[in-house]
Amino acid sequence: MKFFIDTANLAQIKEANDLGVLDGVTTNPSLMAKEGIKSNAAVMKHYVDICNIVKGDISAEVIATNYDGIVAEGEELAKLHEQIIVKVPMIKDGIKAIHYFTSKGIKTNCTLVFSAGQALLAAKAGATYVSPFIGRLDDVSTDGLQLISEIRQIYDNYGFQTQILAASIRHAMHIINCAKLGADVATCPLNAITDLLKHPLTDIGLEKFLADAKKFV
Ligand code: G3P
Repeated sequence: MKFFIDTANLAQIKEANDLGVLDGVTTNPSLMAKEGIKSNAAVMKHYVDICNIVKGDISAEVIATNYDGIVAEGEELAKLHEQIIVKVPMIKDGIKAIHYFTSKGIKTNCTLVFSAGQALLAAKAGATYVSPFIGRLDDVSTDGLQLISEIRQIYDNYGFQTQILAASIRHAMHIINCAKLGADVATCPLNAITDLLKHPLTDIGLEKFLADAKKFV
């Protein structure tokens, strides 16, 4: 299972990367805005900065919602760095654009996926990754993990190579359950990753070992 971090915060990206368990980064316009980035040029530079920190796939999202615009923006993003994955929304023109990018060898991440049907379309178009938003489904009383399970079954039935990138992850149990269900990737906030470290018996056990180690001369 690959771990991506879902942020545009360079300090958090560096911290996760230093742990040695990071395989990539996902961003979106909301995460960029949260970092106080105020121009398209600054967004582009930020993508390159992220690529220079993490050796893995870095999702960069298009803003256009029409086919020509998505293609133009995606080609520009793909030229920024070899690690860039063009993130395209799950809309009709997005699916057409993903098909085009696939034919040109440009990798894609189909985002804002909330149903198995949408995930099937993304795979048919040749998306490299599909991003089901499990936390946002949970927010509206719908089982986000059930969607991961359905997509896994459909992709396995037909051997689709599109990787399931579980997104909108809110906590450590989301990561563990996504791993159990066979998601290929989890993109997580830093705290969800570091929360995987925690167990009170580890803390108690370490305290005892260290106390006993003091008995040695
Ligand atoms: O990157 C997209 C997704 O992970 C957003 O998560 O927490 O805004 O629902 P969230």
